[in-house]
Amino acid sequence: SDSDVSVGSSGLEPPPFAFAFDIDGVLLHVAKPIPGATAVLRFLNDYNIPFILLTNGGGKHETERVRDLGERLGVPLSTDNFVQSHTPFQELLEGPDSLRDKTVLVTGSDYEKCRAIFKEYGFQNVITPADIYAASPTIFPFQPASTFTTPTAPLPKPLYTSPTLSSSTLPSHLKVDAIFILNDPRDWALDTQIITDLLLSHAGHVGTYSPLNNSPTLPNNGWQRDGQPRLYFSNADLLWSAGYHLPRLGQGAFQAALAGLWRRITGGSAELERTSIGKPYGETYRFAERVLAGHRGEVLRVMGNDKKVGALRRVYMVGDNPESDIAGANGYVSAEGTEWVSVLVRTGVWSEERGRKLEGEFEPRVVVDDVMGAVKWAFRREG
Ligand code: G3P
Ligand code: MG
Repeated sequence: SDSDVSVGSSGLEPPPFAFAFDIDGVLLHVAKPIPGATAVLRFLNDYNIPFILLTNGGGKHETERVRDLGERLGVPLSTDNFVQSHTPFQELLEGPDSLRDKTVLVTGSDYEKCRAIFKEYGFQNVITPADIYAASPTIFPFQPASTFTTPTAPLPKPLYTSPTLSSSTLPSHLKVDAIFILNDPRDWALDTQIITDLLLSHAGHVGTYSPLNNSPTLPNNGWQRDGQPRLYFSNADLLWSAGYHLPRLGQGAFQAALAGLWRRITGGSAELERTSIGKPYGETYRFAERVLAGHRGEVLRVMGNDKKVGALRRVYMVGDNPESDIAGANGYVSAEGTEWVSVLVRTGVWSEERGRKLEGEFEPRVVVDDVMGAVKWAFRREG
């Protein structure tokens, strides 16, 4: 309750410190609030203490996820203080290598939801593995998973279906420029088939096989060296804390499976080249810091009320996973000079009996029972 957590002499003025809360294993077990989570967020909200929710979860657009979270936690939340795994991908719409008008393949737990997220972000040509399967059913000789959704629109261009590579006709055939994993895929079989087809292709043309593959004189033995699409993962979590009493496999498990398959399919000679964001990677913490500090500066949007505060001195990163939340906060070097303090809770992936040893990059500043304990510890520390 509010009386449990005292507020320093600064009282109602927002102190120049803030919180970043992980969601799964800290605030929720899937849809079930963890005890103390609602009271803590209400308290911080009432006293204008800045916080963001920083999750490796994904698969819904930010506005939909924030609405769901607000209902489950019973606290008004805003996309202004919410960063999920694929939120930073929006930055790839801008700049000299913009993907805005390129063709991108997206996958995750629901193909149509993934397409809708990226269209909402501003990507113009978004396709899914289901689109490719519908255009060329023999590409996948098994019955797709039961959750399979038939696509809503035909592919923008036809697939290449000739057994010989005739580059003269290729420009008229579909070329995929980038592949994005937005959250935990459901149909690993179809997704791994389509993704490996693309990584083996000539310049991203589905249905082709690159003549550069297995060229020992080229780096990586020529694999992924012929204009194939770049591969982006939105998080690398091998495990996460859901409703079951033991941690569950996450998107990092899919990535590990694909990397193992890639090593086999390239005859053991090539490492899968990919970009992964999400916690623990610096890009995600940098993005989160910008969100937390409002628009990079003096103004913090705290639950919709702009408050003039000094630059943040400290952010308490409250997480349940030493490999993402703790290692990320420990390793992040802020360009704003903000200190990120890692706080590990016992309500998620990690436990004394099962979790990894808390040493080096995985060693938190403190281990507490739960999110209420984390906020109490931080306030005592801030005095
Ligand atoms: O898919 C969600 C899982 O990877 C972990 O999410 O909220 O604990 O970062 P979170
Ligand atoms: Mg977590």
